[in-house]
Amino acid sequence: MVALDKELSEEPVTPDTVKAAPAGALKGEFAVPGDKSISHRALILGSIADGVTEVRGFLDGEDTVATLKAFESMGVGIERSTPTIVKIRGNGMDGLKKPPGAIDAGNSGTTARLLAGLLSAQPFGSVITGDASLRRRPMGRIITPLTEMGASITGSKNNTLPPLTIQGKSLKGIRYSSPVPSAQLKSAILLAGLYAEGETTVTEPAKSRDHTERMLRLFGADVTTEGRSVTIRRTKRLEARRVEVPGDLSSAAFFLVGAVITAGSEITVKGVGVNPTRTGVIEILKRMGAGIEVADPREVSGEAVADLRAKSSSLKGIEITGAELLPAIDEFPVICVAAAFAEGTTVISGAGELRVKESDRIAVMAESLKAIGAECSETPDGITINGSSGAPLRGGKVKSHGDHRIAMAMAIAALKTETGIEIEEAGAVQVSFPGFFDLLTRQRRV
Ligand code: S3P
Repeated sequence: MVALDKELSEEPVTPDTVKAAPAGALKGEFAVPGDKSISHRALILGSIADGVTEVRGFLDGEDTVATLKAFESMGVGIERSTPTIVKIRGNGMDGLKKPPGAIDAGNSGTTARLLAGLLSAQPFGSVITGDASLRRRPMGRIITPLTEMGASITGSKNNTLPPLTIQGKSLKGIRYSSPVPSAQLKSAILLAGLYAEGETTVTEPAKSRDHTERMLRLFGADVTTEGRSVTIRRTKRLEARRVEVPGDLSSAAFFLVGAVITAGSEITVKGVGVNPTRTGVIEILKRMGAGIEVADPREVSGEAVADLRAKSSSLKGIEITGAELLPAIDEFPVICVAAAFAEGTTVISGAGELRVKESDRIAVMAESLKAIGAECSETPDGITINGSSGAPLRGGKVKSHGDHRIAMAMAIAALKTETGIEIEEAGAVQVSFPGFFDLLTRQRRV
Protein backbone atom coordinates (compact mmCIF):
# COMPACT_ATOMS: atom_id res chain seq x y z
CA MET A 1 0.00 0.00 0.00
CA VAL A 2 1.30 3.46 -0.93
CA ALA A 3 1.46 5.91 1.98
CA LEU A 4 -0.19 9.29 1.70
CA ASP A 5 2.98 10.98 0.46
CA LYS A 6 1.60 13.89 -1.53
CA GLU A 7 -1.71 14.12 0.24
CA LEU A 8 -0.60 15.98 3.31
CA SER A 9 -3.27 18.64 3.12
CA GLU A 10 -5.23 16.50 5.60
CA GLU A 11 -3.44 16.35 8.94
CA PRO A 12 -1.34 13.15 8.88
CA VAL A 13 -1.05 11.42 12.24
CA THR A 14 1.26 8.66 11.00
CA PRO A 15 2.16 8.04 7.34
CA ASP A 16 -0.97 5.92 6.97
CA THR A 17 -3.34 7.58 9.47
CA VAL A 18 -5.17 10.78 8.65
CA LYS A 19 -7.22 13.10 10.86
CA ALA A 20 -10.16 14.11 8.67
CA ALA A 21 -11.51 17.46 9.81
CA PRO A 22 -15.04 18.85 10.21
CA ALA A 23 -16.07 21.56 7.72
CA GLY A 24 -18.83 24.06 7.13
CA ALA A 25 -19.48 23.35 3.49
CA LEU A 26 -18.20 21.95 0.19
CA LYS A 27 -18.06 24.39 -2.72
CA GLY A 28 -16.87 24.56 -6.29
CA GLU A 29 -16.71 22.95 -9.70
CA PHE A 30 -14.22 20.11 -10.19
CA ALA A 31 -13.63 16.69 -11.77
CA VAL A 32 -12.87 13.32 -10.17
CA PRO A 33 -10.44 10.65 -11.51
CA GLY A 34 -11.46 8.30 -14.32
CA ASP A 35 -13.86 5.40 -13.92
CA LYS A 36 -12.14 2.34 -12.46
CA SER A 37 -14.27 -0.28 -14.25
CA ILE A 38 -13.90 1.40 -17.65
CA SER A 39 -10.13 1.93 -17.20
CA HIS A 40 -9.61 -1.82 -16.54
CA ARG A 41 -11.65 -2.78 -19.59
CA ALA A 42 -9.83 -0.32 -21.88
CA LEU A 43 -6.51 -1.92 -20.89
CA ILE A 44 -7.81 -5.45 -21.41
CA LEU A 45 -9.42 -4.90 -24.80
CA GLY A 46 -6.67 -2.53 -25.98
CA SER A 47 -4.09 -5.24 -25.21
CA ILE A 48 -5.78 -7.87 -27.39
CA ALA A 49 -6.89 -5.52 -30.18
CA ASP A 50 -5.02 -4.85 -33.42
CA GLY A 51 -3.52 -1.35 -33.47
CA VAL A 52 -2.94 1.39 -30.93
CA THR A 53 -5.64 2.18 -28.38
CA GLU A 54 -5.33 5.59 -26.81
CA VAL A 55 -7.01 5.93 -23.42
CA ARG A 56 -7.62 9.42 -22.01
CA GLY A 57 -8.81 9.98 -18.46
CA PHE A 58 -7.29 6.65 -17.35
CA LEU A 59 -7.54 6.05 -13.60
CA ASP A 60 -4.01 6.14 -12.20
CA GLY A 61 -4.97 4.05 -9.16
CA GLU A 62 -3.41 0.94 -7.63
CA ASP A 63 -6.17 -1.36 -8.97
CA THR A 64 -5.93 -0.25 -12.58
CA VAL A 65 -2.13 -0.10 -12.47
CA ALA A 66 -2.22 -3.77 -11.37
CA THR A 67 -4.06 -4.57 -14.62
CA LEU A 68 -1.62 -2.42 -16.62
CA LYS A 69 1.39 -4.25 -15.15
CA ALA A 70 -0.25 -7.61 -15.82
CA PHE A 71 -0.47 -6.83 -19.55
CA GLU A 72 3.06 -5.46 -19.65
CA SER A 73 4.19 -8.77 -18.14
CA MET A 74 2.40 -10.52 -21.02
CA GLY A 75 4.40 -8.57 -23.61
CA VAL A 76 2.04 -5.68 -24.36
CA GLY A 77 3.72 -2.32 -25.06
CA ILE A 78 2.06 0.36 -22.91
CA GLU A 79 3.21 3.99 -22.84
CA ARG A 80 2.00 6.71 -20.50
CA SER A 81 2.69 10.26 -21.65
CA THR A 82 0.96 11.48 -18.47
CA PRO A 83 -0.47 9.40 -15.59
CA THR A 84 -3.91 9.56 -17.25
CA ILE A 85 -3.03 9.22 -20.95
CA VAL A 86 -2.18 5.66 -21.89
CA LYS A 87 -1.25 4.24 -25.30
CA ILE A 88 -1.59 0.51 -25.68
CA ARG A 89 0.08 -1.23 -28.65
CA GLY A 90 -2.29 -4.16 -28.94
CA ASN A 91 -0.80 -7.63 -29.53
CA GLY A 92 -3.93 -8.91 -31.25
CA MET A 93 -6.26 -11.66 -30.01
CA ASP A 94 -3.52 -14.32 -30.10
CA GLY A 95 -0.49 -12.24 -29.21
CA LEU A 96 -0.28 -12.37 -25.41
CA LYS A 97 2.86 -14.04 -24.01
CA LYS A 98 3.17 -16.25 -20.96
CA PRO A 99 3.92 -13.95 -17.99
CA PRO A 100 7.30 -14.70 -16.37
CA GLY A 101 5.83 -14.94 -12.85
CA ALA A 102 2.51 -14.88 -11.01
CA ILE A 103 0.22 -11.96 -11.90
CA ASP A 104 -0.28 -9.81 -8.79
CA ALA A 105 -3.79 -8.32 -8.89
CA GLY A 106 -3.13 -6.50 -5.59
CA ASN A 107 -6.45 -5.46 -4.03
CA SER A 108 -8.34 -5.68 -7.31
CA GLY A 109 -11.14 -8.22 -7.68
CA THR A 110 -11.83 -6.86 -11.16
CA THR A 111 -8.25 -7.61 -12.30
CA ALA A 112 -8.32 -11.12 -10.84
CA ARG A 113 -11.72 -12.18 -12.15
CA LEU A 114 -11.61 -10.57 -15.61
CA LEU A 115 -8.07 -11.83 -16.27
CA ALA A 116 -9.05 -15.32 -15.12
CA GLY A 117 -11.64 -15.38 -17.93
CA LEU A 118 -9.22 -14.07 -20.54
CA LEU A 119 -6.30 -16.30 -19.46
CA SER A 120 -8.47 -19.43 -19.51
CA ALA A 121 -8.41 -19.13 -23.30
CA GLN A 122 -4.69 -18.37 -23.83
CA PRO A 123 -2.25 -21.08 -24.93
CA PHE A 124 -0.11 -20.87 -21.77
CA GLY A 125 -0.28 -21.39 -18.04
CA SER A 126 -0.60 -18.56 -15.51
CA VAL A 127 -1.15 -17.86 -11.84
CA ILE A 128 -3.18 -14.94 -10.44
CA THR A 129 -2.72 -13.85 -6.85
CA GLY A 130 -3.26 -10.71 -4.78
CA ASP A 131 -3.10 -9.05 -1.37
CA ALA A 132 -4.56 -10.47 1.85
CA SER A 133 -8.01 -8.95 1.13
CA LEU A 134 -8.15 -10.34 -2.41
CA ARG A 135 -7.04 -13.76 -1.19
CA ARG A 136 -10.25 -13.87 0.88
CA ARG A 137 -12.60 -13.07 -2.02
CA PRO A 138 -14.78 -15.81 -3.53
CA MET A 139 -13.52 -17.30 -6.79
CA GLY A 140 -15.72 -20.43 -6.97
CA ARG A 141 -18.25 -18.27 -8.81
CA ILE A 142 -15.88 -17.89 -11.79
CA ILE A 143 -14.18 -21.30 -11.53
CA THR A 144 -17.51 -23.12 -12.02
CA PRO A 145 -18.59 -21.58 -15.36
CA LEU A 146 -15.04 -21.33 -16.77
CA THR A 147 -14.52 -25.05 -16.01
CA GLU A 148 -17.80 -25.78 -17.76
CA MET A 149 -16.39 -23.97 -20.82
CA GLY A 150 -13.44 -26.41 -20.77
CA ALA A 151 -10.94 -24.30 -18.83
CA SER A 152 -8.43 -25.77 -16.45
CA ILE A 153 -8.58 -23.42 -13.46
CA THR A 154 -8.11 -24.19 -9.80
CA GLY A 155 -8.03 -22.14 -6.62
CA SER A 156 -6.92 -22.72 -3.06
CA LYS A 157 -9.25 -23.91 -0.24
CA ASN A 158 -11.12 -26.40 -2.37
CA ASN A 159 -11.24 -24.13 -5.43
CA THR A 160 -12.86 -21.23 -3.64
CA LEU A 161 -10.09 -18.64 -3.18
CA PRO A 162 -7.03 -17.17 -4.93
CA PRO A 163 -4.32 -17.84 -5.94
CA LEU A 164 -5.83 -19.11 -9.19
CA THR A 165 -3.80 -21.52 -11.30
CA ILE A 166 -4.85 -21.54 -14.92
CA GLN A 167 -3.81 -23.69 -17.86
CA GLY A 168 -5.21 -22.12 -21.02
CA LYS A 169 -7.29 -24.40 -23.27
CA SER A 170 -9.60 -24.30 -26.31
CA LEU A 171 -12.96 -23.39 -24.86
CA LYS A 172 -16.52 -24.03 -25.95
CA GLY A 173 -19.47 -21.70 -25.57
CA ILE A 174 -22.01 -22.33 -22.80
CA ARG A 175 -25.34 -20.98 -21.63
CA TYR A 176 -24.82 -19.98 -18.03
CA SER A 177 -27.40 -18.88 -15.53
CA SER A 178 -25.46 -16.95 -12.91
CA PRO A 179 -26.51 -17.33 -9.27
CA VAL A 180 -25.27 -13.79 -8.41
CA PRO A 181 -25.62 -10.50 -10.25
CA SER A 182 -21.91 -9.72 -10.69
CA ALA A 183 -20.26 -7.75 -13.47
CA GLN A 184 -16.91 -9.35 -12.68
CA LEU A 185 -18.37 -12.84 -13.09
CA LYS A 186 -20.30 -11.89 -16.25
CA SER A 187 -17.20 -10.23 -17.72
CA ALA A 188 -14.95 -13.24 -16.97
CA ILE A 189 -17.35 -15.45 -18.95
CA LEU A 190 -17.69 -12.94 -21.81
CA LEU A 191 -13.89 -12.56 -22.16
CA ALA A 192 -13.53 -16.36 -22.26
CA GLY A 193 -16.50 -16.44 -24.67
CA LEU A 194 -14.67 -14.09 -27.03
CA TYR A 195 -12.34 -17.04 -27.77
CA ALA A 196 -14.77 -19.96 -27.28
CA GLU A 197 -16.23 -22.08 -30.03
CA GLY A 198 -19.82 -21.07 -30.84
CA GLU A 199 -21.95 -18.84 -28.66
CA THR A 200 -21.68 -18.00 -24.98
CA THR A 201 -24.68 -16.62 -23.08
CA VAL A 202 -24.74 -15.37 -19.49
CA THR A 203 -28.05 -14.67 -17.78
CA GLU A 204 -28.00 -12.80 -14.49
CA PRO A 205 -30.67 -12.72 -11.77
CA ALA A 206 -30.54 -8.90 -12.11
CA LYS A 207 -28.55 -6.78 -14.53
CA SER A 208 -25.10 -5.77 -13.26
CA ARG A 209 -22.98 -2.95 -14.73
CA ASP A 210 -22.59 -3.40 -18.49
CA HIS A 211 -19.26 -1.67 -19.27
CA THR A 212 -17.72 -4.87 -20.68
CA GLU A 213 -20.53 -5.39 -23.19
CA ARG A 214 -20.37 -1.74 -24.25
CA MET A 215 -16.62 -1.72 -24.74
CA LEU A 216 -16.58 -5.09 -26.49
CA ARG A 217 -19.04 -3.61 -28.99
CA LEU A 218 -16.92 -0.46 -29.36
CA PHE A 219 -13.92 -2.68 -30.26
CA GLY A 220 -16.00 -4.64 -32.81
CA ALA A 221 -16.96 -7.84 -30.96
CA ASP A 222 -20.23 -9.58 -31.72
CA VAL A 223 -22.21 -9.07 -28.51
CA THR A 224 -25.97 -8.84 -28.07
CA THR A 225 -28.00 -8.06 -24.97
CA GLU A 226 -31.57 -9.17 -24.36
CA GLY A 227 -32.94 -8.22 -20.97
CA ARG A 228 -30.76 -9.90 -18.34
CA SER A 229 -28.92 -12.08 -20.90
CA VAL A 230 -25.79 -11.23 -22.86
CA THR A 231 -24.51 -13.36 -25.76
CA ILE A 232 -21.07 -13.22 -27.30
CA ARG A 233 -19.87 -15.07 -30.40
CA ARG A 234 -16.25 -16.01 -31.04
CA THR A 235 -14.48 -13.01 -32.51
CA LYS A 236 -11.40 -13.20 -34.78
CA ARG A 237 -10.18 -9.66 -34.39
CA LEU A 238 -10.77 -6.58 -32.26
CA GLU A 239 -9.92 -3.14 -33.55
CA ALA A 240 -8.05 -0.53 -31.49
CA ARG A 241 -10.15 2.46 -30.47
CA ARG A 242 -9.73 5.79 -28.76
CA VAL A 243 -11.36 5.60 -25.33
CA GLU A 244 -12.33 8.66 -23.29
CA VAL A 245 -12.87 7.50 -19.72
CA PRO A 246 -15.50 9.53 -17.83
CA GLY A 247 -15.11 10.51 -14.16
CA ASP A 248 -16.00 7.70 -11.77
CA LEU A 249 -19.49 8.10 -10.31
CA SER A 250 -18.37 5.91 -7.40
CA SER A 251 -15.72 8.56 -6.60
CA ALA A 252 -18.03 11.53 -7.27
CA ALA A 253 -20.55 9.98 -4.84
CA PHE A 254 -18.35 10.85 -1.84
CA PHE A 255 -18.47 14.54 -2.76
CA LEU A 256 -22.20 14.43 -3.57
CA VAL A 257 -22.93 13.10 -0.09
CA GLY A 258 -20.45 15.56 1.45
CA ALA A 259 -22.30 18.47 -0.15
CA VAL A 260 -25.73 17.14 0.78
CA ILE A 261 -24.97 16.66 4.51
CA THR A 262 -23.18 20.00 5.12
CA ALA A 263 -24.99 23.36 5.33
CA GLY A 264 -24.45 25.97 2.60
CA SER A 265 -22.80 23.54 0.16
CA GLU A 266 -23.06 23.68 -3.60
CA ILE A 267 -20.82 21.65 -5.93
CA THR A 268 -20.66 20.58 -9.57
CA VAL A 269 -18.70 17.46 -10.51
CA LYS A 270 -17.93 17.69 -14.22
CA GLY A 271 -17.89 14.83 -16.74
CA VAL A 272 -19.07 11.91 -14.61
CA GLY A 273 -20.13 8.54 -16.05
CA VAL A 274 -23.89 8.03 -15.62
CA ASN A 275 -24.33 4.61 -17.20
CA PRO A 276 -27.85 3.56 -16.06
CA THR A 277 -26.42 0.36 -14.47
CA ARG A 278 -24.44 2.61 -12.11
CA THR A 279 -26.74 5.49 -11.18
CA GLY A 280 -28.47 3.84 -8.21
CA VAL A 281 -26.73 6.20 -5.79
CA ILE A 282 -28.34 9.23 -7.44
CA GLU A 283 -31.81 7.62 -7.24
CA ILE A 284 -31.33 6.54 -3.62
CA LEU A 285 -30.01 9.93 -2.46
CA LYS A 286 -32.81 11.75 -4.30
CA ARG A 287 -35.37 9.50 -2.63
CA MET A 288 -33.81 10.46 0.72
CA GLY A 289 -34.46 14.11 -0.22
CA ALA A 290 -31.06 15.11 -1.68
CA GLY A 291 -30.90 18.04 -4.09
CA ILE A 292 -28.95 16.41 -6.91
CA GLU A 293 -29.23 17.40 -10.56
CA VAL A 294 -27.92 15.60 -13.64
CA ALA A 295 -26.96 18.30 -16.15
CA ASP A 296 -25.78 18.34 -19.77
CA PRO A 297 -26.12 14.60 -20.53
CA ARG A 298 -23.95 13.40 -23.44
CA GLU A 299 -22.40 10.20 -24.81
CA VAL A 300 -18.64 9.55 -24.93
CA SER A 301 -16.99 6.30 -26.11
CA GLY A 302 -20.30 4.44 -25.86
CA GLU A 303 -20.96 5.56 -22.26
CA ALA A 304 -23.40 8.15 -20.84
CA VAL A 305 -21.71 11.16 -19.21
CA ALA A 306 -23.10 14.24 -17.39
CA ASP A 307 -22.24 16.99 -14.91
CA LEU A 308 -23.62 16.38 -11.43
CA ARG A 309 -24.76 19.17 -9.14
CA ALA A 310 -25.45 18.70 -5.43
CA LYS A 311 -26.40 21.05 -2.64
CA SER A 312 -27.17 20.93 1.09
CA SER A 313 -30.44 19.16 1.78
CA SER A 314 -32.46 17.70 4.64
CA LEU A 315 -32.42 13.91 4.31
CA LYS A 316 -34.94 11.38 5.55
CA GLY A 317 -34.42 7.69 6.31
CA ILE A 318 -35.74 5.18 3.74
CA GLU A 319 -35.87 1.43 3.05
CA ILE A 320 -33.37 0.25 0.44
CA THR A 321 -33.69 -3.23 -1.07
CA GLY A 322 -31.05 -5.37 -2.76
CA ALA A 323 -32.50 -4.64 -6.21
CA GLU A 324 -32.21 -0.91 -5.61
CA LEU A 325 -28.71 -1.24 -4.20
CA LEU A 326 -27.29 -3.31 -7.10
CA PRO A 327 -26.66 -0.26 -9.34
CA ALA A 328 -25.18 1.46 -6.26
CA ILE A 329 -23.26 -1.54 -4.92
CA ASP A 330 -19.96 0.32 -4.39
CA GLU A 331 -21.73 3.31 -2.83
CA PHE A 332 -23.01 1.38 0.21
CA PRO A 333 -20.44 2.93 2.61
CA VAL A 334 -21.25 6.52 1.62
CA ILE A 335 -25.02 5.84 1.52
CA CYS A 336 -24.65 4.65 5.14
CA VAL A 337 -22.99 7.99 5.92
CA ALA A 338 -25.92 9.89 4.36
CA ALA A 339 -28.32 7.73 6.42
CA ALA A 340 -26.39 8.52 9.64
CA PHE A 341 -27.37 12.21 9.24
CA ALA A 342 -30.93 11.68 7.96
CA GLU A 343 -34.11 12.11 9.95
CA GLY A 344 -35.52 8.69 10.90
CA THR A 345 -34.41 5.16 10.16
CA THR A 346 -32.76 3.75 7.04
CA VAL A 347 -33.03 -0.01 6.56
CA ILE A 348 -30.78 -1.61 3.92
CA SER A 349 -31.46 -5.30 3.14
CA GLY A 350 -30.56 -7.86 0.46
CA ALA A 351 -26.96 -6.65 0.49
CA GLY A 352 -25.12 -9.82 1.63
CA GLU A 353 -22.69 -9.45 -1.29
CA LEU A 354 -21.18 -6.48 0.58
CA ARG A 355 -19.65 -8.92 3.05
CA VAL A 356 -17.26 -10.21 0.35
CA LYS A 357 -15.99 -6.91 -1.06
CA GLU A 358 -12.58 -5.36 -0.26
CA SER A 359 -13.67 -5.73 3.40
CA ASP A 360 -16.86 -6.99 5.04
CA ARG A 361 -18.44 -3.62 4.35
CA ILE A 362 -21.56 -4.29 6.44
CA ALA A 363 -19.55 -5.11 9.57
CA VAL A 364 -16.95 -2.40 8.99
CA MET A 365 -19.51 0.35 8.37
CA ALA A 366 -21.52 -0.67 11.46
CA GLU A 367 -18.31 -0.62 13.55
CA SER A 368 -17.14 2.71 12.06
CA LEU A 369 -20.47 4.53 12.45
CA LYS A 370 -20.78 3.35 16.07
CA ALA A 371 -17.23 4.56 16.74
CA ILE A 372 -18.20 8.13 15.79
CA GLY A 373 -21.42 8.15 17.81
CA ALA A 374 -24.05 7.00 15.28
CA GLU A 375 -26.79 4.55 16.18
CA CYS A 376 -26.88 1.48 13.97
CA SER A 377 -27.00 -2.31 13.95
CA GLU A 378 -25.97 -4.84 11.34
CA THR A 379 -28.26 -7.59 10.06
CA PRO A 380 -27.11 -10.71 8.16
CA ASP A 381 -27.70 -9.00 4.80
CA GLY A 382 -27.69 -5.29 5.59
CA ILE A 383 -27.78 -2.57 8.20
CA THR A 384 -30.28 -0.43 10.12
CA ILE A 385 -29.23 3.15 10.84
CA ASN A 386 -31.05 5.68 13.04
CA GLY A 387 -30.13 9.08 11.67
CA SER A 388 -29.12 12.15 13.69
CA SER A 389 -31.74 14.41 11.99
CA GLY A 390 -28.99 16.64 10.64
CA ALA A 391 -27.15 17.06 13.96
CA PRO A 392 -23.37 16.59 13.87
CA LEU A 393 -22.01 13.31 15.23
CA ARG A 394 -19.30 13.21 17.87
CA GLY A 395 -16.35 11.95 15.78
CA GLY A 396 -13.67 9.48 16.89
CA LYS A 397 -11.21 6.95 15.58
CA VAL A 398 -11.85 4.31 12.87
CA LYS A 399 -9.95 1.75 10.79
CA SER A 400 -10.44 1.42 7.04
CA HIS A 401 -9.42 -2.26 7.16
CA GLY A 402 -7.45 -1.43 4.04
CA ASP A 403 -10.70 -0.68 2.21
CA HIS A 404 -10.52 2.46 0.05
CA ARG A 405 -14.25 3.17 0.09
CA ILE A 406 -14.48 2.88 3.89
CA ALA A 407 -11.62 5.39 4.29
CA MET A 408 -13.31 7.88 1.94
CA ALA A 409 -16.81 7.41 3.37
CA MET A 410 -15.51 8.13 6.88
CA ALA A 411 -13.58 11.21 5.68
CA ILE A 412 -16.93 12.50 4.35
CA ALA A 413 -18.67 11.66 7.64
CA ALA A 414 -15.95 13.70 9.40
CA LEU A 415 -17.20 16.86 7.66
CA LYS A 416 -20.20 16.80 9.98
CA THR A 417 -18.61 15.83 13.30
CA GLU A 418 -17.66 17.80 16.38
CA THR A 419 -14.08 16.55 16.65
CA GLY A 420 -13.22 15.05 13.24
CA ILE A 421 -12.30 11.42 12.57
CA GLU A 422 -8.91 9.77 12.80
CA ILE A 423 -8.78 7.21 9.98
CA GLU A 424 -6.23 4.39 10.16
CA GLU A 425 -5.02 2.81 6.92
CA ALA A 426 -6.18 5.87 5.00
CA GLY A 427 -3.60 5.21 2.24
CA ALA A 428 -6.12 2.69 0.86
CA VAL A 429 -7.68 5.61 -1.07
CA GLN A 430 -4.87 5.14 -3.64
CA VAL A 431 -6.70 2.03 -4.86
CA SER A 432 -9.34 4.07 -6.69
CA PHE A 433 -8.96 7.78 -5.88
CA PRO A 434 -5.43 9.18 -5.81
CA GLY A 435 -5.62 12.79 -4.61
CA PHE A 436 -8.85 12.27 -2.66
CA PHE A 437 -7.74 14.05 0.52
CA ASP A 438 -6.18 16.86 -1.48
CA LEU A 439 -9.38 17.46 -3.44
CA LEU A 440 -11.48 17.28 -0.29
CA THR A 441 -9.30 19.92 1.37
CA ARG A 442 -9.52 22.18 -1.67
CA GLN A 443 -13.32 22.07 -1.87
CA ARG A 444 -13.85 22.42 1.89
CA ARG A 445 -14.95 25.74 3.45
CA VAL A 446 -14.70 26.30 7.16
C1 S3P B 1 -16.85 -4.15 -10.84
C2 S3P B 1 -17.98 -4.81 -10.50
C3 S3P B 1 -18.61 -4.74 -9.18
C4 S3P B 1 -18.00 -3.68 -8.29
C5 S3P B 1 -16.53 -3.56 -8.43
C6 S3P B 1 -16.13 -3.31 -9.87
C7 S3P B 1 -16.35 -4.26 -12.22
O1 S3P B 1 -18.52 -6.00 -8.56
O2 S3P B 1 -18.35 -3.88 -6.94
O3 S3P B 1 -16.01 -2.49 -7.64
O4 S3P B 1 -15.52 -3.43 -12.63
O5 S3P B 1 -16.78 -5.18 -12.92
P1 S3P B 1 -19.51 -7.21 -8.95
O6 S3P B 1 -18.70 -8.22 -9.66
O7 S3P B 1 -20.03 -7.66 -7.64
O8 S3P B 1 -20.59 -6.67 -9.86
